[in-house]
Formats: sequence, structure tokens, C-alpha cells
Amino acid sequence: MYRLTRRLLFLVPPERIHTLVFALLRGVTTVALARRLLRRLLGPSDPVLASTVFGVRFPGPLGLAAGFDKDGMGLLTWGALGFGYAEVGTVTAHPQPGNPAPRLFRLPADRALLNRMGFNNQGAGALAIQLARHRPQVPIGVNIGKTKATLAADAVTDYRASARLVGPLASYLVVNVSSPNTPGLRDLQAADRLKPVLVAVRAALDASAGGRRVPLLVKIAPDLADADVDAVADLALELGLDGIIATNTTTSRAGLASPAAEVAAAGAGGLSGPPLRARSLAVLRRLHARAGDRLVLIAAGGIETPDDAWERLRAGATLVQAYTGFVYGGPLWPRRMHAGLARRMRAGLS
Ligand SMILES: Cc1cc2nc3c(=O)[nH]c(=O)nc-3n(C[C@H](O)[C@H](O)[C@H](O)COP(=O)(O)O)c2cc1C
Repeated sequence: MYRLTRRLLFLVPPERIHTLVFALLRGVTTVALARRLLRRLLGPSDPVLASTVFGVRFPGPLGLAAGFDKDGMGLLTWGALGFGYAEVGTVTAHPQPGNPAPRLFRLPADRALLNRMGFNNQGAGALAIQLARHRPQVPIGVNIGKTKATLAADAVTDYRASARLVGPLASYLVVNVSSPNTPGLRDLQAADRLKPVLVAVRAALDASAGGRRVPLLVKIAPDLADADVDAVADLALELGLDGIIATNTTTSRAGLASPAAEVAAAGAGGLSGPPLRARSLAVLRRLHARAGDRLVLIAAGGIETPDDAWERLRAGATLVQAYTGFVYGGPLWPRRMHAGLARRMRAGLS
């Protein structure tokens, strides 16, 4: 059924259809009664799916990954659609328009997306207002990045400003240093550059959250060399971070089934979906080998079936999240994923 709908939706340019579908989903979930009904129909119901992670109760392990709802316009929508949590953002300290369109592309032969959105967002202050206004049914993580116009030398100030604004309202906070679409951002993954950012954000959270300890994570790229993955894990442990999200999109174009001309025409940007699966899993395994259970690992990258999600959980992830799988899977996808995962978890437990 959704396959047919998807063929129609895919006739419309990707960013326009994203805006339209998002508005539709929000519309359907504006009424509290509709939200409650949908949540009953679509929400994770099997208690085996629920867990408490860094002190936060998650009704299910599958969340919506960052980037879909950058400004927190759908805070009440994601729980109603059956997600166990959502990560909003990336927001930056200052509002910014992002890159010129077109900046989002589909590669249907790979069930992949390619984007160079460039953190289009209304700023951390505007997101803080949304977060303060609503009481979502599920945990809401917030992902922060650097404003493009902020000099690399001032990155600490930029991240700190965002952390102060949104940290106190977030179920957990993510420092994103892994988008390929802000020039120089990924250089901040080097341990000596990352450390001052994380130290400043931790301090800002501790000073502004009124005694609540806001869990802090860092999100990394799949394109890091293995030694750099280890270095981020060591730094996270040294600084007492709560966890790592692995991974963001890749700049690699290796192994695609899509016609080379189609890929070239899309141009620069981050690739997401199944082509990312193997490397994201490898990074996760490496982090788990390095840090064991001392860090919470959240897996993202090419998760589109319950088997994918189950494989990540068995490889050391505590939670999983996805963007591209939801686009290709449709509105009932979170429910299918949680149902399939519950069966595997029960079988795994017995
Ligand atoms: C259009 C688009 C926009 C994205 N924007 C962000 C973002 O703002 N911040 C971020 O941390 N990740 C962003 N991502 C990356 C996703 O959160 C996720 O890490 C990545 O897509 C891999 O997961 P997937 O294969 O399930 O899509 C974006 C992905 C897509 C496709």
C-alpha cells in the first residue's frame, strides 16, 4: 500500500514532499485524542522493548534520527507514530538558511538519500521555545551543531550557547561534529579539537539545568579512521560522557547500485540508508570493543529492517535510530520495526 503511495510521493521533489508530509503528519496529530489513539495503535506495547537509559525511560529502542525535525515542529507527532523517542535538530546558536536548493536527493535503486542541507534551522532559541511549550509522549533528544558563519576558533562559544538554551529542556543532548555539509565541522572530531567543545558543553549543562544531570553524547562520522574512532571513545570515557551516536552520513560513494551519472548529478553531500549499513555497524563494533558498556551506544546508519536493528543491539547498541528507513518505509514503519524487534528480543531472551 505504502509502496504505491511512495511512487506518487516520489514524483514530487524530495524537499517539497518532506515539508508536505511533515505538515500532514503534524496535522493528523494536533488533536490530543487522535494522538492518544494513534499511540495505542502504533506505539511500542511489548514491555520487552522498554528500557531506562542514562536515567531516561524509553518505551521502545527505535527513535527518529536527527535532521528530520530540525526545529522541533513535530514534538507531539513522533510518539503518536510509534517511535520510542525522537532526536530533534541539528540546531545552531544562530538561525541560518542552510545551503541553496536543490540539496536533497533520492537514490531509489539503493533506497538511499543524499543531502547537503547544511543545518537549515531557526536557531537554538526558537527550539527552546518549542520544547518549553509541549509535553511530548516520548523522550526528546536535542542535537546541536556549529553555526556556519562562526569561525572554527569560536566553535566552543557557539556550542556552549546552544547547550545553555536547549540543554535544560532536552532528554539528552548530542554534540554533532560529523555533518559533512558545514565546512570544517568534521575537523572538530580530532580529540584535541573536540575536548574543549565537550568540556564547555558539559559545564554549560551542569550550570543551567537546575540540578538535573543532562546526558551528553557525541555523534561521529562513519568516515573516521579506526584510530580516530578509538580516540573519540577514549576521550568520551575520559570526560565522563554518557555515550556516542554512530553514525552520521558518509561522503563515500562506494558500492552504489544507482547509475553513476545520477549519483554524480546529485553532487556533494552525505549519503544515508543501506549503503551506510556495513561501515556504521563496523564503527559501532569498534566502539563497543573499546568502551564496552561504559558508554551508551546509539546506532544509526542504514537501519531499515527489524534484523538490522536487532543486529545493532546485539553489537552493543542500547538504542537505534533512523531517518532514511522511515522515508522509504512510511508512517507504519516504526510500528513494524518495533513489532519485529520485540519478536527477536523475546526469542533472544528465551
Ligand atoms: C536529509 C537529512 C538530513 C539530516 N540532517 C541531520 C542533522 O541535521 N543532524 C544530524 O546529526 N544528522 C543529520 N542527518 C543524519 C541522520 O541523522 C543519520 O545519522 C543518517 O542519515 C544515517 O541514518 P539513516 O541511514 O537511517 O538515514 C540527516 C540525514 C538526512 C537524510
